[in-house]
Amino acid sequence: MLDSFPESQTFVTHLECGMEHDHYAADQLHGLSKAGKPLLVKYDLNALAQSVSKEDLATRPATLWRYREFLPVRKSENIVSLGEIHTPLIPVPRLQGGNGSVWIKDEGRLPTGSFKARGLCMAVSMAKELGVTKVAMPTNGNAGAALAAYGTRAGMKSFIFCPDDTPEINVREIAAQGAHVWRVNGLINDCGKIVAQGKEPVGWFDFSTLKEPYRIEGKKTMGLELADQMGWQVPDVIFYPTGGGTGLIGMWKAFNELKEIGWLKGKLPRMVAVQATGCAPMVKAYEAGKEHAELWENAHTVAAGIRVPVAVGDFLILRAVRESEGFATAVNDEQITAALDEASQKEGFLMCPEGAATYAAYKQELESGRVSPDESAVLFNCASGLKYELPPADQAININQPVDYSLFV
Ligand SMILES: Cc1ncc(COP(=O)(O)O)c(C=O)c1O
Repeated sequence: MLDSFPESQTFVTHLECGMEHDHYAADQLHGLSKAGKPLLVKYDLNALAQSVSKEDLATRPATLWRYREFLPVRKSENIVSLGEIHTPLIPVPRLQGGNGSVWIKDEGRLPTGSFKARGLCMAVSMAKELGVTKVAMPTNGNAGAALAAYGTRAGMKSFIFCPDDTPEINVREIAAQGAHVWRVNGLINDCGKIVAQGKEPVGWFDFSTLKEPYRIEGKKTMGLELADQMGWQVPDVIFYPTGGGTGLIGMWKAFNELKEIGWLKGKLPRMVAVQATGCAPMVKAYEAGKEHAELWENAHTVAAGIRVPVAVGDFLILRAVRESEGFATAVNDEQITAALDEASQKEGFLMCPEGAATYAAYKQELESGRVSPDESAVLFNCASGLKYELPPADQAININQPVDYSLFV
């Protein structure tokens, strides 16, 4: 935390519709814009750049709040934190495709075991600042877990709806952390409808992905932190598991803000949106040259976090991918499972399935030639692999019988 941070001195000027660019006042509660699109938080970047330097940041604790000037919370007393530490950037040379460098950014180290902590600590802090006491959210698991934790810590009531085949640990951690959770016999968009329709009768605030403006700002810290960790440099290419897309959109926003204030120079990373072949609306839209994606029917994949058939920020994901000269690509469940096994067996790195999808995609695109082995690449492992069901391990020793030491080769 920054004890010396002057209260009310954030650099937020206003909010802006990501599509129509019309303006909305800061310090007021907003959902989507009038056009039904996500709102983006805008800052006075000149004033920001004059008030803080890279050297100042280096003296602060290695947490998400190091970047306070780039964030929207005005009063320190409204910050709801569970210890959002910097996550490590881990080289994985045995997974490397060639002469370049590949790292995994391990977001599983954050509170609640996933990168959703970044978005939800920010959204909950802002909701607290703006007087919200009751929130609701559809989730594929990790976002709900983070909302449960931060909502409870902020003294808010949270109502969380997840598809009934959401990983069991997620449903239970949501309940254990003080939220009200329901399993829904549908997909995340069906859960989203329940939340939207409950706004009137229940009076909760809709915390769906990108339907409130501040989760992106929290996710933006992935980009700020990555650049900071690399000495205010960026990798050539970033592989990101894309569902609702907050992380990809947030990182792209971070890199552009850093470029605008002159902290990043030269080419920004190519952003690669990774999806599963069983749910790849962004890949389809990207390949068709479209600005928006159609709803993906019968969505299915082992990587629950990226099973998002429709995303309100579709155009922002596609814009980031195109502006950065990246691309969108899909891998199938067999590739995801094989990549997960390979990373565990070769590097001792237990990825989550969504993270493993980025490694599968990296390998696929090295082969296709869309990524060169000379390029530096960062793969995002967005949650701890320990949150998912693991393969059985059933070898046993009976201490009443002699141990057969010939087994241990
Ligand atoms: C582990 C994991 N990876 C990736 C995603 C997709 O995140 P985003 O909404 O930023 O696209 C999720 C979302 O639930 C997730 O839980």
